[in-house]
Amino acid sequence: MNNKILGVYTSGGDSPGMNASLRAIVRLAIHNGWKVIGIEKAYKGMLEKNFKTLDLNFVAQIIQRGGTVLQSSRYPEFLKKEVRQKAYNNLKEQGISALICIGGDGSFKGLSALHKEFNINAVGIPATIDNDIYGTDLSLGFDTASNVVLSAIDCIRDTADSHGRVFLIEVMGHNFGFLALHTALSGGAEDVFLPQDNLKIKLPQVAANIKKRQSRGKKGHILIVAEDLNKQAYSYQIAKQLKTIAPDIDIKVSILGHMQRGGSPTCLDRSLGARFGIKSVELLEEMFLLNNPKQLAVVLKQGKISSLDLKDVISRKKELNEEELSNYIRILAG
Ligand code: F6P
Repeated sequence: MNNKILGVYTSGGDSPGMNASLRAIVRLAIHNGWKVIGIEKAYKGMLEKNFKTLDLNFVAQIIQRGGTVLQSSRYPEFLKKEVRQKAYNNLKEQGISALICIGGDGSFKGLSALHKEFNINAVGIPATIDNDIYGTDLSLGFDTASNVVLSAIDCIRDTADSHGRVFLIEVMGHNFGFLALHTALSGGAEDVFLPQDNLKIKLPQVAANIKKRQSRGKKGHILIVAEDLNKQAYSYQIAKQLKTIAPDIDIKVSILGHMQRGGSPTCLDRSLGARFGIKSVELLEEMFLLNNPKQLAVVLKQGKISSLDLKDVISRKKELNEEELSNYIRILAG
């Protein structure tokens, strides 16, 4: 297919900045002569033919809005080849020759399969509050979610200090711990539990540190817990074990949940959304002109926007690599 028709969708867990990116894509692509079709609810929408031609007005007044105006979905059925074939037939019916997927790792896998099987021009824009996508320093939504968590930490700190309590605050992050580590450091938490931590070793140290700090007059304690999807009610398990080791400590649990995915995107997420959007349209323009379909992801590396092969991005794991920071978090907490 060699039509200048672009399909764009937001997929997986929504994240602040998706709308800012969509705005940039729609406006620049139309400027460059593309027809832009929004695919509502991502892969599910491809199957259900939820196609909508987007004009300049569609993306008005969305730069400041969290969530995604195109809506999103999780659609594991897309792992099946016959489902992708049907989706492709529907894309073909619309004349779509290029796709931009704004989403996370799982969504990129669907995009990569579509490119591989049907040779469609494909670009992925990293968007997830988990910040767990290989090759990019930041994904859309991470900064906003971090700030939402920080506001919660600040609020809980007030009541923790007032009662001399220990709070376990559980944050999202999909078993990777980026959000937990980053917010523990910036929120002045006393400690952080990462999914790879061994509780048997860690908990006695945490209890001893709490007692030491309390004896020098420290009132409240904030312990950030990275969600662990393999362990049900993880923070409650930690609280129970901590209570067994140190029965006199007053412990409360606060699981922040989906509020972390909402809210108006920060300046950083809006500008990153625009920069990712611009780059993705430029890449598609190049593929189209050279008649050379590729699968790429746009990334932020050391302050610069560039692109990587989508195959590499989905096949490699982003390492936390900063675990030594949890030592410093404890030291800085005094
Ligand atoms: O991937 C983003 C994320 O918010 C994770 O941090 C979390 O584990 C998951 O999505 C929650 O998924 P859902 O919205 O489907 O409950």
